[in-house]
Amino acid sequence: MPLPDQFLQELKLRSDIVDIVSPYVTLRRSGRSLSGLCPFHGERTPSFHVYPDNGSFYCFGCHAGGDVITFVRKIENLDYMEAVRYLADRAGMQVPESRADDGMAKLRMRILEINRETARFYFSVLEGPEGRPGLEYLRRRALSQKTIRHFGLGFSPPGRFALVNHLKKKGYTEEEAIRANVAFRGRSGGAVDRFAGRVMFPIIDLRGNVVAFGGRVLTDEKPKYLNTSDTLAFHKSSTLFALNFAKDSGERLILAEGYMDVISLHQAGFPSAVATLGTALTGEQAHLMARYAKEVVLCYDADEAGQRATSRAIPMLREAGLLVKVLNIPNGKDPDEYIRSYGEQGAARFKNLLDSTGNDVEYRLAKLKAANPPDQPAGRVAYLTGAAELLATLHNRIEQEVYAGKLAEEMGIDRTAILRQVDKLAQKRRKEERKKEFRTFQQETVGLRDRVNPEKAANLRAASAEEALLAALLRYPEFGPLAAEQLPPGQFATSFNRRVYAALLEMIKNGAEPSLSGLSGQLSEEEMSAVARITARYHDVPVTREDVKEYINVLQSEHAARQAEKAVNAAEPQELMRYLESLRDQKK
Ligand code: GTP
Ligand code: MN
Repeated sequence: MPLPDQFLQELKLRSDIVDIVSPYVTLRRSGRSLSGLCPFHGERTPSFHVYPDNGSFYCFGCHAGGDVITFVRKIENLDYMEAVRYLADRAGMQVPESRADDGMAKLRMRILEINRETARFYFSVLEGPEGRPGLEYLRRRALSQKTIRHFGLGFSPPGRFALVNHLKKKGYTEEEAIRANVAFRGRSGGAVDRFAGRVMFPIIDLRGNVVAFGGRVLTDEKPKYLNTSDTLAFHKSSTLFALNFAKDSGERLILAEGYMDVISLHQAGFPSAVATLGTALTGEQAHLMARYAKEVVLCYDADEAGQRATSRAIPMLREAGLLVKVLNIPNGKDPDEYIRSYGEQGAARFKNLLDSTGNDVEYRLAKLKAANPPDQPAGRVAYLTGAAELLATLHNRIEQEVYAGKLAEEMGIDRTAILRQVDKLAQKRRKEERKKEFRTFQQETVGLRDRVNPEKAANLRAASAEEALLAALLRYPEFGPLAAEQLPPGQFATSFNRRVYAALLEMIKNGAEPSLSGLSGQLSEEEMSAVARITARYHDVPVTREDVKEYINVLQSEHAARQAEKAVNAAEPQELMRYLESLRDQKK
């Protein structure tokens, strides 16, 4: 059940979008909108716009957009109701209670409660007799009691129903345990413990909720780790292990590969270590780190997989606006093994490594050089060419000059010659990028690539009129009754626009003004962005009553044309059948 329109209108009135956005983005006024650097992707020229008159924002670079609620959701990583509650608190308003029985929100709460209960259970098992093997394992891996407590580590008893039975005793259903992904559905249909006989690592989000688990076997069995799959309360690709501790530890984060590495690092006095959850780094995770730090030290395993992951992560972190350093661990060890192998000295040793890390450019140049030994002429050419290509990707002129200087000295050639090559390549890259951008822009303008509204490409004329009408209704509520009277949603050609239109008509019917905020409870973030993009596109186009009538006309005639076409298509099979029958009859 959606929140009452009246409440949303009031919330919108009391939550000025400029006030909400300002702490995150330095905004400058430009005409009727304000603009600044987009907080959702790395950029150097502002393409993020805020429109105070309809309370929306839209980024022309990454296409993020929506109303105040969408903004808070995205920037604070909240779900819809959490964002509403946050804004309501801020505005001194009470969220209507009827919402408490909303199915999804309620199930999500139950999942979080189950996770907390599960973490408690695993922790208590670890302390008891059944947890012996787990505790011994963790001790063997040199974790102190304090560390185990700090991370809330636990042990999942072997067997099939220990957790499920415990949860049932606490009043949770088997279905809920399955939805939380701490159990799976067994052959007989009942819930079975998902983790059994593993040491358990709870994953805690930035608000202190236990959102997932990683579990490690005590032996060499496969799979070594088992992780919670995505649930209503957990999105692997936008979560980082231990960021709840690391976020306040300073300007620098350490990104390691595994849970054990992170825990070892924290125990050794490096509380800024985080890790992904067994998957490659995502753009969302890179941006998440950029919200809490300026610099990331990549500290992946020294093996080949780790090095490949390092090369992949560097551009993503840079793209998110982070300074990147790469820490190389000697002797092919992972951070945990390294620290442990030096015992008492481990922390001091690691600190030395940390202080002597090269930055990502040095790292990549060293890799290039190793792959193309410059003592041979062919290697020399390949090394220099590769190096120039690498420097061409850096956007910082000073950086380019510094490394060109180093290269020149190292290879005994002229610095300006290197820089000239770098500039040439950079220019070529920029041209290609612009071409690509233009192609995307073209495709998007004519609607050939619209993920939210894939039917648009086949219905361009109707879809344009639909969008113009939606933008008009969101900006000039006085045209609502006219549209409601003359154009039922069924006459829209594309189902996404039809859904938005129907929602706006519903608001009008309930005596509310059509607004973005009224939509944000019903649309996904991506869909909100699509609507914000429509309003942003028509933001500077004044619309008259005549225009609205014209949009309605176009949509009515397009609808009539589609109906006629359908009638023809529907007739065809029957005619075909009759024709085939007549052929058969002739043969007889
Ligand atoms: P140990 O030191 O052996 O306990 O592990 P580690 O923390 O050093 O992990 P490793 O370098 O082997 O792997 C890095 C991360 O990848 C782990 O922390 C897990 O998140 C993930 N991972 C490793 N093995 C598996 C697996 O078999 N399945 C899944 N889903 N993830 C895994
Ligand atoms: Mn390890």
